[in-house]
Amino acid sequence: MSLQRTTAQALRAASKSATRQTVAKRSMSLLSRQAPRAALAAQATGVRGVKTLDFAGTKEVVYERADWPLDKLQDYFKNDTLAMIGYGSQGHGQSLNARDNGLNIIVGVRKGGASWKEAQEDGWVEGETLFDIPEAIKRGTIIMNLLSDAAQSSTWPEIAPLITKGKTLYFSHGFSVVYKEDTKVVPPKDVDVILVAPKGSGRTVRTLFLEGRGINASVAVYQDVTGKAKEKARALAVAVGTGYAYDTTFEKEVYSDLYGERGVLMGGIQGMFLAQYEVLRKNGHSPSEAFNETVEEATQSLFPLIGKYGMDYMYNACSTTARRGALDWAPKFKEANLPVFEALYESVRNGSETRRSLEFNGRKTYREDLQKELDEIDNQEIWRAGKTVRQLRPDAKKEDI
Ligand SMILES: NC(=O)c1ccc[n+]([C@@H]2O[C@H](COP(=O)([O-])OP(=O)(O)OC[C@H]3O[C@@H](n4cnc5c(N)ncnc54)[C@H](OP(=O)(O)O)[C@@H]3O)[C@@H](O)[C@H]2O)c1
Repeated sequence: MSLQRTTAQALRAASKSATRQTVAKRSMSLLSRQAPRAALAAQATGVRGVKTLDFAGTKEVVYERADWPLDKLQDYFKNDTLAMIGYGSQGHGQSLNARDNGLNIIVGVRKGGASWKEAQEDGWVEGETLFDIPEAIKRGTIIMNLLSDAAQSSTWPEIAPLITKGKTLYFSHGFSVVYKEDTKVVPPKDVDVILVAPKGSGRTVRTLFLEGRGINASVAVYQDVTGKAKEKARALAVAVGTGYAYDTTFEKEVYSDLYGERGVLMGGIQGMFLAQYEVLRKNGHSPSEAFNETVEEATQSLFPLIGKYGMDYMYNACSTTARRGALDWAPKFKEANLPVFEALYESVRNGSETRRSLEFNGRKTYREDLQKELDEIDNQEIWRAGKTVRQLRPDAKKEDI
């Protein structure tokens, strides 16, 4: 595949997609603004494909977008209707990307909910591309179940009979089927069951796609009836905006995901920030000093360096004094945290985290209960101090604070 051809295809498909769809002004302007850039990025990655890469001594296969140029992707799914069930963070990002990739996709959400309105605002048209959930499932050949995990469980009794032979069932999380004793989600035996799990929020799935980049995702097969399940999963990964994908299993995906977000990605970092801040405050440091030394320097200066070239790069960018101390204290933090991480992994593995999540997120008062907890965080001194610190950033905009 020559680079030039890939670019031309991307441009052609993007403009075809733009004219084919009745798209609301918001999406339309984004698309027309971004499509050329997306095409250029496709050109940049055009030489890459399926590869075995050495990840620190372990060989793994990765799949790249270049394996599925747009004409091949569109041809592969020409007889399919993708039915996106749910229009939350992931449903929104994945369905808009698939639509911009020129695929035949419809959205299914409950009428009257927030998602219905949002889908309409994004140009999905009632009776044409927007349906209630049962109707969308009936019309779809690939059923993308992107309801919230709790809703996947509570709606399963109505959804299951509609997933008939020949359809494909798609998830973005292993949660529902891996913890089937708790969720009761047991897929019918005669359908392919696959997973594409983007490693980031649905909003990022969309913004990276519009920038011509692409999120990374894992792909897995739970049930392969047609012998094509894996191939379909890889193609769908590209369809929904993935830049590259790596293999996993449903079980490994859900274990690592639940563990990671409770750990370093969210819960762990929140706990570390708070503990460090509190000790500084107890020792007489001002809120601005405590916040700057805990959160602001981390997010604005040091963590991006780790993201760019790794931990040693960050160390090299710091003073000799900082380096010496951090090198000495890192093993102590590791030792102190290890038992917490062991306990967390076990809590994920034995399903405790799932049961907790289903119970909490299945409550009728879920939204209010959650908001109460988030308000408590927002009211903590550390985060109130953070608002003032952010105002002081020279490039601060009102909407960022
Ligand atoms: N968010 C992420 O960062 C992320 C990343 C990777 C994978 N995933 C996975 O992707 C899937 C979707 O996640 P998400 O974050 O996009 O979900 P979400 O934002 O919580 O989506 C909720 C969707 O479910 C619908 N819904 C909720 N309760 C319902 C009910 N009882 N009946 C019918 N519809 C109901 C909502 O519709 P209404 O508006 O009508 O309430 C909305 O469309 C999950 O499996 C998740 O684990 C998420």
